[in-house]
Amino acid sequence: MTTSLLPPSTPTGLLIGGEWSPGRARLPVVDPATLETLAEVADADVGDGLDAVSSARDAFEPWAATRPRARAEILRNAFEIMTAEIEDCARLIVLENGKAWNDAIGEATYAAEFFRWFSEEAVRVAGGFRESPGGDKTIITDHVAAGVAYLITPWNFPAAMATRKLAPALAAGCTTVLKPAEQTPLTALWVGEVLRRAGAPAGTVNIVTTSQPGPVSEAILADRRVATLSFTGSTPIGKLLLAQTAQRVLTSSMELGGNAPFLVLEGADVDEAVAGAMVAKMRNGGAACTAANRFYVHESLAEAFTGRFRAELAAMAVGPGIDRANDLGAMVSLDERDKIVGLLEQAEQDGGRLDPVGEVPEHGAFIAPHMVHDVAHGSTLTRQEVFGPVIPVVTFDDQDTAIEMANDTEYGLISYVYGRDKGVGIQVGRRLRAGMVAIDRGVLSDAAAPFGGMKESGLGREGGFHGIHEFLETRYLGVTW
Ligand code: NAI
Ligand code: MG
Repeated sequence: MTTSLLPPSTPTGLLIGGEWSPGRARLPVVDPATLETLAEVADADVGDGLDAVSSARDAFEPWAATRPRARAEILRNAFEIMTAEIEDCARLIVLENGKAWNDAIGEATYAAEFFRWFSEEAVRVAGGFRESPGGDKTIITDHVAAGVAYLITPWNFPAAMATRKLAPALAAGCTTVLKPAEQTPLTALWVGEVLRRAGAPAGTVNIVTTSQPGPVSEAILADRRVATLSFTGSTPIGKLLLAQTAQRVLTSSMELGGNAPFLVLEGADVDEAVAGAMVAKMRNGGAACTAANRFYVHESLAEAFTGRFRAELAAMAVGPGIDRANDLGAMVSLDERDKIVGLLEQAEQDGGRLDPVGEVPEHGAFIAPHMVHDVAHGSTLTRQEVFGPVIPVVTFDDQDTAIEMANDTEYGLISYVYGRDKGVGIQVGRRLRAGMVAIDRGVLSDAAAPFGGMKESGLGREGGFHGIHEFLETRYLGVTW
């Protein structure tokens, strides 16, 4: 084991009741760039999960009654600590997820922002007060903490997905049980320790790492002490969880898969479109629900766009993210790498022309960027979330057809548009059925903006003014004066 690679303050136990405990079994965490075991963390069973719920339930009433200013200051402390130790966080992300160093620093910075933003939102939850239309009463509304929040996060952004849920939940006065992805538990445990050091009281933040997400989650969601679920991950698991929450009529927030179209319209500036495409596609090695998944390029620009995009890809250094000179790291696991290879094989059978760019290390979960030419709209690569550095290009000659193809998906998380000018970009953007539309930009995520999808991409919004309301219930008091 190469434990010495980990920052000294990295816990590996379960966080329950404000204490770290080793758990009864261990779960290995593998560095996908070297395939070596980095550490072993506790492997929680159903009993541990329910202990975490008990701890969160015991802490709930006092935390919900804590002055909003005091809750805000703890979150602000967490922001300060995380910012001061940003390289430790980035290092853990790189080691267990595989992404490039700059992507990890970007993620860690974004992750810390949720603590700052929600420290500010904690003291700004406004209610309402008005006369009823009939004049018989006064309608008062306020917002109260939902209760114990169960949070499930994926491996692609191990820090940011945790803070995007923990920060608003704690700001709202909820207590939490966080279950990180089994591939990337260390970053979440590190974030838990940051919150503990920031002054989060015992029981407000509980973390269970487990190799059995199904049984542990099912037991937690069936427990009457749990009030709400926030999940980020794949659409199939999201649907499975919705069926479980339906049994208890739990509120839930779902950030699920995407299938983002990237439109390059007639008259667009090709250099700008390529620069945006590099970020929209290659950030995080393409493993993002917001990643551009399919490119629709006007036929007059197709040759220039693919040529310049290819040149940018060829200039990327591929290798372990821990070497800061590398631009593209490893996929999270050999399984994920193989899933992408399978999709490329399918693309070839569908008639696409594979165009791999550059060399990659043989050992480790690496995959070269691939352009795929002559892709037909409707084929696998335009239907399925790829989650890797694959660039399928579909050409079009008519703008309305491009918009139709962009909307022809059950997903609706994000869309990207490059047009002749902002007017065209905004007009087209308003016809896209997506929760987020990027116009002349390759990245949109911002703690201050509402993140979320339409259609099967999800339910609810995280961040912005909306994020805290996922963890609040609205209460109406009718009063006769
Ligand atoms: P996943 O949806 O299985 O994993 C996400 C989280 O759900 C993890 O914490 C996992 O432990 C948990 N989980 C898994 N099964 C569960 C269950 N039965 N009950 C409760 N929680 C459960 O995603 P996976 O299998 O790791 O990745 C498969 C594909 O899903 C990826 O290739 C990618 O295309 C997509 N994906 C999309 C994400 C997004 O943000 N849109 C994030 C992760 C994966
Ligand atoms: Mg799965």
